[in-house]
Amino acid sequence: MSQIIDTNNLPKHIAITMDGNGRWAESKGKIRAFGHKNGVKAVRDTVEAAAEIGIKFLTLYAFSTENWSRPQSEINALMSLLVSAINKETKTLMNNNIKLSTIGATDSLPSKAKKELNEAIEETKGNTRMTLILALSYSGRWEILNATKNLIADGINHEKINEQIFQQYLTTKSVPDPELLIRTSGEYRISNFLLWQIAYSELYFTNRLWPDFRRQDLEKAILNYQNRERRFGKTKKQIQN
Ligand code: FPP
Repeated sequence: MSQIIDTNNLPKHIAITMDGNGRWAESKGKIRAFGHKNGVKAVRDTVEAAAEIGIKFLTLYAFSTENWSRPQSEINALMSLLVSAINKETKTLMNNNIKLSTIGATDSLPSKAKKELNEAIEETKGNTRMTLILALSYSGRWEILNATKNLIADGINHEKINEQIFQQYLTTKSVPDPELLIRTSGEYRISNFLLWQIAYSELYFTNRLWPDFRRQDLEKAILNYQNRERRFGKTKKQIQN
């Protein structure tokens, strides 16, 4: 790579929509589950690379609320992949000082997946290098509705509600908003991911299908991010001053 990543200008939080597993498998004449299986390799490589680069939070969109309407056989394949990947990789998370957490309606996951996740979350809770957040049974609208219901249930006076308070009711309350959102597979959509949190995120789209995504692709996205000017609604001059 000709350019070098500037470690003083890293996004603290990167979110990724891992898309294209099905197409990757179909292009090889295989069933969709084969794509998901190879997607786990990309997860492993990306998690390791992100931690080594110095990213503090990495959120992966692993299963959306809408994914529950996929064929039951595909849902089962995804859930058992999740269980086996967590089981196998908890050691890697420990060796790399990575903490695991989740966002989403994880109560609706099969009990085996919940058990595996809870064990890994408990085991890795003291790790400090990076937090890996898996979005599971997650959608941005679900999260915003949930936050609203809980604000009302807590009897918060509507006059008092502001962005800071609202944020405390989101599943990402202790996580900074992602500066960079990556989506693979050449689709240009948000698909209900982190709707509140991406208000000022830089969006990066790549044609790479998720199972082929590797460290160099992550580095390319970070370099692209570092060449952008983030203005947050201000003028160029204001930013320069
Ligand atoms: C999108 O591809 C991918 C998913 C819905 C699931 C992602 C899951 C994994 C990579 C495996 C398990 C995850 C972890 C964290 C261990 P798609 O099926 O929508 O592909 P398509 O758009 O080509 O059909």
